[in-house]
Amino acid sequence: MNKINRKILITGGAGFIGSHVVRRLLTSYSNYHIFNLDALTYAGNLENLKDIETLANYTFIKGDITDEAFISSIFKTYNFDGVIHLAAESHVDRSITDPLAFVKTNVIGTMNLLNAAKEVWNENFNNKRFYHVSTDEVYGSLGETGLFTEDTSYDPNSPYSASKASSDHFVRSYGETYGLPYVITNCSNNYGPNHFPEKLIPLFINNIINKQSLPVYGDGNYTRDWLFVEDHAVAIDLVFHKGKNQETYNIGGFNEWKNIDLVKLLCKLMDQKLNRKQGESEQLITYVKDRPGHDLRYAIDANKINKELGWKPSVNFEEGLDKTIDWFLENQKWLDNVTSGEYKEYYSKMYK
Ligand code: NAD
Ligand code: DAU
Repeated sequence: MNKINRKILITGGAGFIGSHVVRRLLTSYSNYHIFNLDALTYAGNLENLKDIETLANYTFIKGDITDEAFISSIFKTYNFDGVIHLAAESHVDRSITDPLAFVKTNVIGTMNLLNAAKEVWNENFNNKRFYHVSTDEVYGSLGETGLFTEDTSYDPNSPYSASKASSDHFVRSYGETYGLPYVITNCSNNYGPNHFPEKLIPLFINNIINKQSLPVYGDGNYTRDWLFVEDHAVAIDLVFHKGKNQETYNIGGFNEWKNIDLVKLLCKLMDQKLNRKQGESEQLITYVKDRPGHDLRYAIDANKINKELGWKPSVNFEEGLDKTIDWFLENQKWLDNVTSGEYKEYYSKMYK
């Protein structure tokens, strides 16, 4: 085994995307020690990391990024060489009912990490890097045409996207003001194994399994650009190692779907897998009240990361959806665990 010569802090590593990033880095870089800092909110789940949790170069730290003193102390204890920051409140609908929680975690939490990194690195930034994982939602909404590029102006519409936009600005400002070496990526909608069933695809998979209604917001003609989560983890690995400091990269799937078309495809695939009559699950579709401030369309121009770093998505959508559905069908226990307790309360309030 290689000698450990880099200590990397990943925040939010027990969540959906974070768990794939932790696994990717742990299995690709045996000279790294990976520290996964996560508060284990409703969205954090150590089951997501069962297969790697006993590796010698892995440490889980339960902790909250909003706790300034705690964050400062772990930076002093470990003096990380790099940070990949994913911890966040991530669901738009929850941000509409509790915006302040999003300011606390996404803005104040990010500030605490920036301050701790600045303090402990003490302007000796050689080989150090602060990587902030962000979202395409900071750019607001597209009309029927056009793509988000790295130069698109910020125009966030939900409390979630406003909090992510704010944290992006703070990261950039620490680069400009203090010389902190940073990279930011703004990615489109992810899907795949371990996705928490409050988001469209896993929520609908779970509801189809249980023959529950499929609540499509508004007329269903909203468009998202879907990317398989492992492709996002590959992109994060690449940007962390090869991206240029003080740069932003957009990451996307070149894969736009109107919600209603995606839901119909999901129904068709699930009917096949569950040996149900074709058309059976489509009957569960129910049009419900729209999300307030609902962004019409997101679509990413991912040409910069393609040209500069050679990244492009490797999993096509039908293959990715197929893998995702299989994962949920094979992991019914995971689904049962995360849909008991708090989830039931959330669901009945949200979809009453
Ligand atoms: P998630 O909600 O599945 O996971 C978030 C993780 O952060 C959880 O493990 C949770 O326990 C942890 N966390 C939350 N608050 C914390 C706190 N105060 N302190 C420490 N840990 C805390 O989210 P996700 O979908 O995996 O998203 C991860 C990151 O990627 C977020 O920053 C999100 O904005 C960004 N992003 C997500 C998508 C997407 O489609 N899911 C797309 C682009 C960008
Ligand atoms: O674009 C990246 C963003 O994608 C990430 O930054 C967010 O963390 C992530 O949650 C996701 O945000 P969206 O709001 O696009 O994802 P969500 O799965 O909540 O919704 C996808 C679309 O489906 C959106 O148009 C709203 C719609 N929808 C969603 C739910 C949960 C429904 O029609 N019904 C639903 O019940």
